[in-house]
Amino acid sequence: MLELDALTVRFGGLTAVDAVTLTAGRDEVLGLVGPNGAGKTTLFNAVSGLVRPTGGRIRFESDNLLNAPLHRRARMGIGRTFQIPQPLHELTVRENLVVAQRFGTGRVDDERIAEVLDFTGLAGRAGRNAAAELALTELKALEIAKALCTDPRLLLLDEVLAGLETSAKRRFMHMLADLHKRFSVGILIIEHDIDIISQLCDRVAALDFGKLIALGTAAEVFRDPEVVRSYTGGTA
Ligand SMILES: Nc1ncnc2c1ncn2[C@@H]1O[C@H](COP(=O)(O)OP(=O)(O)O)[C@@H](O)[C@H]1O
Ligand SMILES: [Mg+2]
Repeated sequence: MLELDALTVRFGGLTAVDAVTLTAGRDEVLGLVGPNGAGKTTLFNAVSGLVRPTGGRIRFESDNLLNAPLHRRARMGIGRTFQIPQPLHELTVRENLVVAQRFGTGRVDDERIAEVLDFTGLAGRAGRNAAAELALTELKALEIAKALCTDPRLLLLDEVLAGLETSAKRRFMHMLADLHKRFSVGILIIEHDIDIISQLCDRVAALDFGKLIALGTAAEVFRDPEVVRSYTGGTA
């Protein structure tokens, strides 16, 4: 279980994440929504260790994460994807997974890699160059595969479905729902598509200007007046 307690991240005078208190369980898919600049990616960065919080606490499975280095968080079971897919460009798909696994778990598990390649539909592309020979959908699948092969307990997915057409989005949504069950991994997902969030997520958290403004089911959150206002710039 991930527990954020008054988590705050400031960049100079800007408060990107403002005293957010939130838990995410391994048994749930939690959606994180909010307009551009709301602080969603920064919250992920604080959890995965890429930015240092200014205040508050982060606990994972009861351990204090606040000062844990990046690789330790990965080894504790926190996996993530990035808003822009980041394959290692000189390497093949399989080599990308080997590198991700070495970083994430400290060892290479060929069986797990084979299982993940198969699950993400990349088995036939394992020997291809990751940067030059993959289509966008395959790059997205590789981002998920890289995170998954580190045996995570919690996956942070940052707009991993953005830029996909509707049918591909739906396929990925089903893949994520399967992955949640099959690998017993909790999911925290940033996504703008309300239909996808509504179908995939057990709960939804809405951020605006770094503050948690609503938390509940998708139906509750998307009809919350403050959430509606946050998306329409205060004119609704
Ligand atoms: N490294 C950084 N340095 C300074 N400002 C940043 C940095 N990262 C993000 N920000 C600012 O923090 C706010 C939240 O950004 P971000 O977390 O990327 O929002 P979201 O992912 O919700 O679109 C924005 O105003 C953004 O410009
Ligand atoms: Mg973002």
